[in-house]
Amino acid sequence: MKQREITIRYKEYESTELSELQTTLISHSEKAQVSSHSPYSNFRVGAAILLESGEIVLGSNQENAAYPSGLCAERVAIYTCGSNHPSKKILAIAISASSLQFDINNMLAPCGACRQSMMEYEHKQNSNIKVLLKGVDNQFVEFDSIKDLLPIPFNCDALQNVS
Ligand code: THU
Repeated sequence: MKQREITIRYKEYESTELSELQTTLISHSEKAQVSSHSPYSNFRVGAAILLESGEIVLGSNQENAAYPSGLCAERVAIYTCGSNHPSKKILAIAISASSLQFDINNMLAPCGACRQSMMEYEHKQNSNIKVLLKGVDNQFVEFDSIKDLLPIPFNCDALQNVS
């Protein structure tokens, strides 16, 4: 038996330490929350994706009376990129959340299904996607790659035909 270890690196920023681009992306993720359809959870999530063209694509969580039919903000945003900008590389995604009902005491970390969905596009474009999360007290966290959020991924490498 061998004990193995995986190390994950991420950066923590104060708001004053963010670059102009990071600040822009976070504020777009906050604007995206406005279109959240979240009457069931009252939890509004916004995602803003920066493409290599400089375009910013927004997404917000869309809930449904049939609860599992709803979709997280990150997937709304990344599938919008996949369907409307299929050949443009995705450089980064910023995610933020707000709620009148709940105290948001921690940064919003993307759910497992969103990590898996974002991993698909990182793999497809063969280059890293940065993830910028808004935490509490004006703290921000940045991961350099989806792999840091999903270190042992399932991807299409596992779906090779036997020849
Ligand atoms: N939600 C997101 O949009 N992104 C996440 O990463 C976690 C959760 C949404 C789903 C649902 O509409 C609400 O937040 C409460 O779970």
